[in-house]
Amino acid sequence: MNIKEAMELKELVTFIPNKHEPIHNWYYYKEGYSKAFVELMIKKFNIQKNHVVLDPFCGIGTTNLTCKQNGIKSIGFDVSPLCTFVSRVKTTDYDLEDLEKKVKQILGLKFEKPEYLPKDEWLRRSFNRYVLEDIMFYKKNIFQIDDGKAMHFLLLGLMDSAMSCSYAYKDGALVRIQKKHVPPLGKFFKYKMKKMLKDLEKTNVPNVETKIELGDARDLAVCDDGVDFIITSPPYLNKIEYTKIYRTEYALFFQQPKTQIRSFIEEGEDAYFRDMRKCLENFKRVCKGQMAIVIGGGCFPDHVTLVDEKIGEIAEDIGLKVKEILVARNSWCTKARTVKVGQIRESVVILE
Ligand SMILES: C[S@@+](CC[C@H](N)C(=O)[O-])C[C@H]1O[C@@H](n2cnc3c(N)ncnc32)[C@H](O)[C@@H]1O
Repeated sequence: MNIKEAMELKELVTFIPNKHEPIHNWYYYKEGYSKAFVELMIKKFNIQKNHVVLDPFCGIGTTNLTCKQNGIKSIGFDVSPLCTFVSRVKTTDYDLEDLEKKVKQILGLKFEKPEYLPKDEWLRRSFNRYVLEDIMFYKKNIFQIDDGKAMHFLLLGLMDSAMSCSYAYKDGALVRIQKKHVPPLGKFFKYKMKKMLKDLEKTNVPNVETKIELGDARDLAVCDDGVDFIITSPPYLNKIEYTKIYRTEYALFFQQPKTQIRSFIEEGEDAYFRDMRKCLENFKRVCKGQMAIVIGGGCFPDHVTLVDEKIGEIAEDIGLKVKEILVARNSWCTKARTVKVGQIRESVVILE
């Protein structure tokens, strides 16, 4: 296989550059990659405005928003309602004047203590009582807005603000509770909504068709040859359980998704690669052109797995061609934090 070092991609395959990108930074998603990475792939594949790009694991919509910003149509699927919600809000076309009015209306409300607070034990640990009261107050009023676009826009701002005022914080594959000083939610929420509105004012995102759906990459609801390119990143082997990490957001706003790619050591690597085979078969069926798949290696107490090569082997086995594997980063897999097990890497597998 054609494996090349491409260290210039090191930061681009992470979410870090998005922290300063308007709209992309409306919600922090550690598992995401960057707008700059997607733009690089758009150039590399010479994707034009008449093409359609698919991201079958769209997360919070980095591929879709970047395509839209570049005037390119796209489709995104994810099994997580949280992800499809965030992706949709970020890729919606808004009537700015109308949106500003609705936001002003909600931010101008006089606080009223909610009649009841959620009984969920996890939520009670994640927030102090005042923050939780504020969240419930705003949530109730936002749900009464009769305009779906404005309602979802405000809900995303509330969700992100809630996480900034929470005792829960994401630490690798876990969520921990840490009692600390947290800012008042109302103040944070107002600041967040103003920033989101400003982003829409200053970035002129073209009105391009972008479809975001709840869906499983192992069984894609796309017709044969329905898209031109794929830019994506599946869950990494033996990495995080998305529904556990985002349990605070789920407890506040969503229902837990029922299906995920199996990616745990308990489930076994075989199950993970069986799932990946199903995905690749779907990609081959629906995609006419090239595909970029960002993937990391598997780190276990007694061995490492080079997932990029394994995906390449499966791809070739089902009749796809591995053009190249671009290695963005090398790192050590360790056990007990000190003992080196072997080297793993994060790469971009280019298929056609
Ligand atoms: C590495 S993240 C993708 C992040 C994305 N590139 C971004 O920038 O936001 C992988 C995503 O796959 C989703 N996922 C897991 N199993 C899935 C499946 N069977 N079908 C579709 N999406 C799935 C997870 O919910 C997660 O959002």
